[in-house]
Amino acid sequence: MSAVINLKDISKTYGHGDTSVQALKKTNLSFFNQEFVGIMGKSGSGKSTLLNILGMLDHPSTGEYILDNQNISDHCDDKISYIRSVSIGFIFQSFNLFARQTILENVITPMRYAGTKSKKEMVETATGLLDKLGLADRLKHRPSELSGGQCQRVAIARSLANNPPVLLADEPTGNLDEKTGNEVIDIFHELKAKGQLIIMVTHNPEYENVVDRMIHLSDGHVVKK
Ligand SMILES: Nc1ncnc2c1ncn2[C@@H]1O[C@H](COP(=O)(O)OP(=O)(O)OP(=O)(O)O)[C@@H](O)[C@H]1O
Ligand SMILES: [Mg+2]
Repeated sequence: MSAVINLKDISKTYGHGDTSVQALKKTNLSFFNQEFVGIMGKSGSGKSTLLNILGMLDHPSTGEYILDNQNISDHCDDKISYIRSVSIGFIFQSFNLFARQTILENVITPMRYAGTKSKKEMVETATGLLDKLGLADRLKHRPSELSGGQCQRVAIARSLANNPPVLLADEPTGNLDEKTGNEVIDIFHELKAKGQLIIMVTHNPEYENVVDRMIHLSDGHVVKK
């Protein structure tokens, strides 16, 4: 089975000279379809750096990023933006919803960027996703009118709008109570069963039991994969 994502000798250094920080040291990792992978490590160990590189939000300082057997490291920014919009969904700890948009518009926005669906298809897809996540009666509401758990479910719906094969989540349950957090984990298990690759940064050691494998980072090194 070939990996969806292959990182080869990826490293990341922020800044220059005396004040430079090597946030990620030479890292080799492979991720496969239908995997639910966790990333743990102390604050400052490089988890978000790794996730941002996986999500093509940040360029690595060295190494190669292979997505679906394609080396994207040398692509121009426009091409990377397009590949990201159709391949990767993001979920953040603080939801990062668009405050001025209704939740329906929040879920439609990434489809508008990808530009492959008609308006009718975008509305249908967004409504269907929000319905599946139990938010059918909130379509016209704005994020400020929802609870934390509901916001995170909107963020999940939005991350799935373009049906990406890869879903990245940076502490998606960090701002949720235990019950709501577990609901999010259940949703990830359902998505995994449908073939998606899910990579989740977490601080919660109990999640060792819910993921297929847990990658441990320490001071920019992968100490367990
Ligand atoms: N933009 C930046 N400029 C300079 N240094 C940075 C930058 N982003 C992160 N770092 C440094 O890189 C290291 C890794 O940071 P990172 O955000 O990846 O840690 P983390 O494991 O996600 O931590 P946390 O659990 O607190 O979110 C830290 O030492 C941090 O100070
Ligand atoms: Mg972080």
